[in-house]
Amino acid sequence: MQFNSTQEETPSLGHPGSGIGERNFTGLLLANEIREGLHTRVFGKQDVVYFKQTDSTNLRAKELAEGFAPEGTLVVAEKQTSGRGRKGRSWFSPAGDGIYASLILRPAMPANQAPSITLMTAVAVAETLLSLTQLPARIKWPNDILVNGKKIAGILTEISTKMDSIAYVVVGVGMNVNTPPEGFPQELKGKATSILIESGEPFREVDIIRAFLKCYETHYEMLRKSGFKPIIKRWKELTEIIGQRVIVDVIGKQYCGKVIDVDDAGVLIVEDSHGRSHRFYSGDLNLVRNLT
Ligand code: BTN
Repeated sequence: MQFNSTQEETPSLGHPGSGIGERNFTGLLLANEIREGLHTRVFGKQDVVYFKQTDSTNLRAKELAEGFAPEGTLVVAEKQTSGRGRKGRSWFSPAGDGIYASLILRPAMPANQAPSITLMTAVAVAETLLSLTQLPARIKWPNDILVNGKKIAGILTEISTKMDSIAYVVVGVGMNVNTPPEGFPQELKGKATSILIESGEPFREVDIIRAFLKCYETHYEMLRKSGFKPIIKRWKELTEIIGQRVIVDVIGKQYCGKVIDVDDAGVLIVEDSHGRSHRFYSGDLNLVRNLT
């Protein structure tokens, strides 16, 4: 594995028992700390790549995946200097206040089933927040995680295909953990929130990562063994968008209507005021009650 890295960006590569990479930093997401009490079979048990600071854990994970890093490789950073969001947006990634993590998956799956991974990830993030913090985490299609209407976590899934199959998937998860109200930049005020803000308590990032890895592995195994049906069922229980009036933004074009369903392939179905039904494979969704 090769990295063009500055001192700050030097990765610490942790392999079980190696002790490598645990010496230099005092951050909370070091490989050994994540592994302690981690009850997974694969995720976080093998390769964990830690950065005190990097541009984007998804970019680092993609480099590793191109270099044949195995399924379950986890890349974490204390801070991202160019955290990436969906649709070319940026992801606010200050040091110490959030989780910035990317997982490498190599599912034996046709490329057209890749959206199932994104929806499954949203279920795992929401379940993790529910079980660990008891916060009422809800999913907004396709994969925003909201608490009390504000975004607390986001997911960026990047897929590489070979012929019609998936070569690898990088699943990037950003979670606002200990960001105080005054910690968000102006443009995110009123739209973003954190676990600290919603629960009134600080949480250890390492505990959240461990719980997430366990929950993620359980859902990933369920997807492989039982298919997408149980995942989409749970996804629907965790969303509040069905029956809501929404505006869907697709490459700058806006569609208004009521959400009828999210089908078994994760496609959003919206009925407009003329009773016509529209199917959306991707896009940005705004609940009409949230519009000013
Ligand atoms: C979104 O809601 O727009 C997706 C945000 C995803 C952010 C995470 S943080 C870890 C990983 N690395 C990135 O650069 N982005 C994802």
